[in-house]
Amino acid sequence: MKKVNIKNFKKTLSKFTTGVTVVCVKDKNIIYGKTVNSFNSLSLNPPLVLFSLGNYSSSIKTYLKTKYLTINILSKKQKNISNHFSKKNPDLKSVEFINGNNNTSFLKDCIANLECKLVDKIKKGDHIIFICKVINIKHNDLLKPLSYYNSKYI
Ligand SMILES: Cc1cc2nc3c(=O)[nH]c(=O)nc-3n(C[C@H](O)[C@H](O)[C@H](O)COP(=O)(O)O)c2cc1C
Repeated sequence: MKKVNIKNFKKTLSKFTTGVTVVCVKDKNIIYGKTVNSFNSLSLNPPLVLFSLGNYSSSIKTYLKTKYLTINILSKKQKNISNHFSKKNPDLKSVEFINGNNNTSFLKDCIANLECKLVDKIKKGDHIIFICKVINIKHNDLLKPLSYYNSKYI
């Protein structure tokens, strides 16, 4: 067994294959998007999902005060979108959005989109867990998912 330090911990967790999402919020009509793979389902009834964000994130205050958000599950063709939204202050001019029902914005051409109401925030360690009630959904059966394993897209 290895010692649990940050390097070994990150490497071990990277062996868990995930999908890739971009979580979008809107504040004063400015859209914020962040690449997130800590997304997971939480409850079927009521329909709840969760994800976590580092409390050190440059836009954490905006995410903490939002009421509604979208979780956009990326397709294999959207590696560039994932890289784009993992940058600080990504340029939004090149990205196409669709308006949601609650002053929200969806990313186009995703394998699935969820419109959510933020219902709880739990601070744990250096991350904050966001618990969201899913209020609108859309999916595409023809696209393949973007996956992340060993710190690389697969
Ligand atoms: C595939 C992938 C998954 C990521 N998942 C998360 C995540 O679940 N939570 C998180 O806080 N940051 C995650 N990040 C990092 C953020 O996208 C972003 O790079 C980081 O928050 C730094 O930018 P910021 O300070 O503007 O938030 C991920 C990055 C990549 C490339």
